[in-house]
Amino acid sequence: MYIEQADYINKSKQEKPAKQEISYTPGSFLSFEEIEKLDKKYVLNTYNRMPVAFRYGSGEFLYDTEGKEYIDFLSGIAVTALGHANADLIEALNRQADLLWHTSNLFYNEQQALLARALIEVTFPGKVFFCNSGTEANEAAFKAMRAYGVSQNPAKVKIIALDKSFHGRSTASMSMTGQEKIHSGFGPLLDNIEYVPANDIDSLVAAFDETVCGIIMEPIQGEGGVVPLQADFLEAARELAEDYKALLVLDEVQTGIGRTGKYFAYQHFPIRPDILTVAKGLGGGFPIGAAIIAEEFTDVLKAGMHGSTFGGNHLACAVGYEVLRSIESHKLLENAEKMGQYLIEKLKNLPVKAITEVRGVGLLIGIVLPKKVQARPLVKEALKHGLVIGRAGENILRLAPPLVVRKTTIDRAVEKIHHLLKDI
Ligand SMILES: Cc1ncc(COP(=O)(O)O)c(C=O)c1O
Repeated sequence: MYIEQADYINKSKQEKPAKQEISYTPGSFLSFEEIEKLDKKYVLNTYNRMPVAFRYGSGEFLYDTEGKEYIDFLSGIAVTALGHANADLIEALNRQADLLWHTSNLFYNEQQALLARALIEVTFPGKVFFCNSGTEANEAAFKAMRAYGVSQNPAKVKIIALDKSFHGRSTASMSMTGQEKIHSGFGPLLDNIEYVPANDIDSLVAAFDETVCGIIMEPIQGEGGVVPLQADFLEAARELAEDYKALLVLDEVQTGIGRTGKYFAYQHFPIRPDILTVAKGLGGGFPIGAAIIAEEFTDVLKAGMHGSTFGGNHLACAVGYEVLRSIESHKLLENAEKMGQYLIEKLKNLPVKAITEVRGVGLLIGIVLPKKVQARPLVKEALKHGLVIGRAGENILRLAPPLVVRKTTIDRAVEKIHHLLKDI
């Protein structure tokens, strides 16, 4: 219809709409080649895709268009915490889908209220703002930091972030991201953001002054190479934020929801943030994000200062609630801790020269390779052998198996990793 309209308005310039060379009947499947062809023609090329399309999944496994099995040790980039096609999540989603999908944030919402309580119960006293992604959670945190600063003094707008951090792709979250390659090509981004090297307390102290309204960091830098922050650095940030009346934001979009063996990575340390940002694992694959704001600061963002049409909708919150319930009832924090230790030990014991370090906590693990070894071709090669892994930085392989992973699957995956790296 809209094509006809455009045709009418702009007839001289309008090319004839392409004849549909690939037919599709709802309920049928396209071949990989057909999917690839449509994608290349119609989907904006902002991703470097791997040459696979998955058709279905089950637990720790994925199956492609040809029915080939893969061990999923990436979990959709630390998202599918309960594995694929989890029966409890399917039931929660279907139950809610039958009742109500969306009403907006103009009204009270039972599923949102329940999920907010559940999140506060596993973190600290406070309140939750719901959104749809990690970027949006960090956007809320950015606005809260700025609003908190400006409420004290209009010049208190500086935010400290870390080198090699990753906080998302919107203008504010990209500006807080300490990676030149993410910034480049867009001209000036937001100013008043200072980056300091992770775990460098002297630089952190030097960056703080009266104009700082907040500091944001990931307890383990995920995209930056699976780099854990050290306890003394986190504690120094906590103390400095308090001294300078600034907010400490921890971005646990990747490390949260049990990935490190605790609900949140900060819980390995004797500190807590003022704002905690969450997404990825919270929906187990359904889009949802949240910024949890400690009770002392819940009036920083007042009615009308922030919002989202979809944020915290009925479907997303019903699923999020079920994710938390399942983690608790299936003891998945314990599993993540135990299986993480088992996996790290096995990787450390591999007789492979190319592994210079294995690091991470729980089930967020980086395999560091020598600088000259590129991780990307290895990720592609692993796929050929039925293993889905990721990379973090140029020379680091990233593993993020689902929290439900079993020893037998780890054994099989490590064998594939051995095979992948043994001749390097
Ligand atoms: C630590 C961290 N923050 C924020 C984001 C952005 O999240 P999203 O892609 O859901 O917007 C990511 C995504 O990888 C992340 O790892």
